[in-house]
Amino acid sequence: MSGTETFGTDTAAAAAAPGGTGSGTTGLEAIERGAGRVEVGDKAMINARADVNQLLPLKYRWAWDKYLAGCRNQWMPTEVGMQADIALWKSRDGLTADERLMIKRNLGFFATSESLVANNIVLAVYRHLTNPECRQYLLRQAFEEAVHTHTFQYICESLGLDEGELFNMYREVPSITDKAAWALDYTRNLEDPEFRTGTPEADRAFLRDLVAFYVVFEGMWFYTGFAQILALGRRNKMVGVAEQYQYILRDESIHLNFGIDAINQIRIENPHLWTEDFQREVRGMLAEGCELEVAYGRDTMPNGMLGLNAEQCERYMHVIANRRAAQLGLAPIYGETENPFPWMSELMDLNKEKNFFETRVIEYQTGGGLDWD
Ligand SMILES: [Fe+2]
Ligand SMILES: [Fe+2]
Repeated sequence: MSGTETFGTDTAAAAAAPGGTGSGTTGLEAIERGAGRVEVGDKAMINARADVNQLLPLKYRWAWDKYLAGCRNQWMPTEVGMQADIALWKSRDGLTADERLMIKRNLGFFATSESLVANNIVLAVYRHLTNPECRQYLLRQAFEEAVHTHTFQYICESLGLDEGELFNMYREVPSITDKAAWALDYTRNLEDPEFRTGTPEADRAFLRDLVAFYVVFEGMWFYTGFAQILALGRRNKMVGVAEQYQYILRDESIHLNFGIDAINQIRIENPHLWTEDFQREVRGMLAEGCELEVAYGRDTMPNGMLGLNAEQCERYMHVIANRRAAQLGLAPIYGETENPFPWMSELMDLNKEKNFFETRVIEYQTGGGLDWD
C-alpha cells in the first residue's frame, strides 16, 4: 500500500528540505507552486507524500465518520444540573467516607488526565499523523478534551472542592502519579524537536505513544473511572456527575476506537513494524497499564463500598485489557473473561459509534484489499 511505498526514503531529510520530494509532514512547509494534484494513493497515515493540507480526495472514511460522529455528540458540562449532587455532597451522612475518598480520587485522576491526553494529541500525535482526515478528527478530539477538562472545573466549582487538592492530585497521590508518569514517558520520546518518523525505530516509538494514550490511558484507565462513578449513579448518588461521565464515556469510546483504527491502519500500511517482538512489547504495555490500574483501584477503594470494590475493578481491567488486545489483533493477556460490571457493556452498547475494524476483522487480519474510496 501507499505507506510501504514511502518506507525507506529519507523522510526526515524531506521534511527538513521542503520541496525536495514535493511534500513535508507538517503542512507548514513552503508552498510548491504549480505542484501536481493529490492522488488518493499518495495519502498515508504516517510518512505521507501527499500534501497534508488537502482533505479531499478522502482516503480514510472511518476517520471522517468519527469526526462527524464527534460533532453530532456536542455537549457542554454546564447543561447538566448539579443541585442534587451539591445537596448530597454537603449533607452529613448522604455519602460514606469511602465513597467520598473514591469520588475525590476519581475526579483528581480525570482532572489532569484530560489535559495530559490533550497535550499528547496536540504536541505529539498531530505532527506525525500525516493524513488530513485523521488530523480533522484530532482537532475535534482536542476540543472534546477541552470540554472534559471544563467538566472537572465545573464539578470542582459546583461542589466547592479544594481546587489545589483536586488538580495537584496527580503529583500527590502515588497511584495517580505512577499512571501519568508511565504515559508521559511515551509522549516524551516524541518531544525532541528533531524527532521524525520514517525509520522503523521512530515509527515504532510513534505507535507506542498511540498505544499508551489511546489504548491504555483512554481505553483502559478511563473505563475504571467511568465504572466507579456510574456505579454510584446507578444507586442514585452524584447523578449530575454520573450524567457528565456518560457524555464523556460517549466521547471517549470514539477516541478509543479512532486510536485502535489508526494503529491498525498503520499496521496494514507498514507490516514490517508489527513484528513478533513488537507485538509482545505491546501486550506487555497493556499488562503494565493493567497493573498500574489495579494499584489505583486499591488506592481509591481501600475498603470497598456497596456494589463496588477494588477486586471487582481488577477483574474488570482484565476483561478490558483482553478486549483491547483483541482489537489490536493480539492474543488475550489474562485467562479470566467474566465481566463483573455487565451493566457497563450494556451502557456502552447503546453507543452507535462502532469501531470500523470490529466489523471488518477478516480484512485487517489478512491485510489485503482494503478499498477506502
Ligand atoms: Fe477526554
Ligand atoms: Fe479522550
